[in-house]
Amino acid sequence: MADQYAVIGNPIAHSKSPAIHAEFARQTGQDLEYGRILGSLDDFAADVRQFITQGGRGLNVTVPFKEQAWALADERSARAETAGAVNTLIRLEDGRLRGDNTDGVGLVRDLSANHGFDFSNASVLLLGAGGASRGVLVPLLETGLAELVIANRTASKAVDLAALAAPLGAVVGCGLDALAGRHFDLIINATSAGLSDSVPDIPDDCLRNDGWTYDMLYGDRPTAFCRWGQDHGAARALDGLGMLVEQAAESFRLWRDVRPETASVIQLLRGVR
Ligand SMILES: NC(=O)c1ccc[n+]([C@@H]2O[C@H](COP(=O)([O-])OP(=O)(O)OC[C@H]3O[C@@H](n4cnc5c(N)ncnc54)[C@H](OP(=O)(O)O)[C@@H]3O)[C@@H](O)[C@H]2O)c1
Repeated sequence: MADQYAVIGNPIAHSKSPAIHAEFARQTGQDLEYGRILGSLDDFAADVRQFITQGGRGLNVTVPFKEQAWALADERSARAETAGAVNTLIRLEDGRLRGDNTDGVGLVRDLSANHGFDFSNASVLLLGAGGASRGVLVPLLETGLAELVIANRTASKAVDLAALAAPLGAVVGCGLDALAGRHFDLIINATSAGLSDSVPDIPDDCLRNDGWTYDMLYGDRPTAFCRWGQDHGAARALDGLGMLVEQAAESFRLWRDVRPETASVIQLLRGVR
């Protein structure tokens, strides 16, 4: 039987992960099957145990279970430890579960490897202080950026998150109202405002000339924050589809020890070919 993997979340029907991993498996000749599991909201751990007991080799974990997956993991990578959230579970030889978080690597690879953003000396604004923001902190701070400002509608959450990450690099937290007069080379939207087609309330001039915007959200049409970037002179206004594929590629590498090629998969999902 082929090795079994799956993505678990609730809801899960919309997930693109099975299509992405099927494409990775085809491309690399790996003998695996990747399904989707609708996790139960009151007993996520039981669903994971059942999958693993039945021979499952690994899981991707999505909303709303990433924090529970962190707690369930027997051991965790350093980046998952700081994130407080796990999006990848790996069954070890002895049956224990290792938790990792590949979201941040996915974001950084999409920006730098796929699109050529130069993080060195960049001033970066990260909007939001929820799970998505936490998940990308370590890889972002490892890029060599000059400064990272985390700004959130609820200022205290951004301040707390920045304090957590302070040992890793130059990072401060603040409320959205403290952004007046500040200018950034890259603004990353890690809020969920886009789910209601809105954008965080940030100053019109906080993107530098030729600055870039990146929305972790993606959709069939430009997201609200992509439109904000286009309307405010962004040199590039990117959405999060590339991050989705890149975080999946990093999970695949952790499980199979082979890195799939991503550009063709991103194009496939965009319906470009
Ligand atoms: N592309 C990818 O692979 C990928 C991976 C992970 C996540 N994501 C996306 O990232 C987004 C955030 O997810 P999450 O798990 O971090 O959510 P979360 O934990 O619920 O956090 C939501 C964040 O958004 C802020 N927010 C919500 N509505 C807002 C508004 N109208 N104006 C300003 N701020 C607002 C919240 O601020 P308060 O603290 O003030 O409430 C909070 O910081 C989602 O859209 C998700 O789809 C994408």
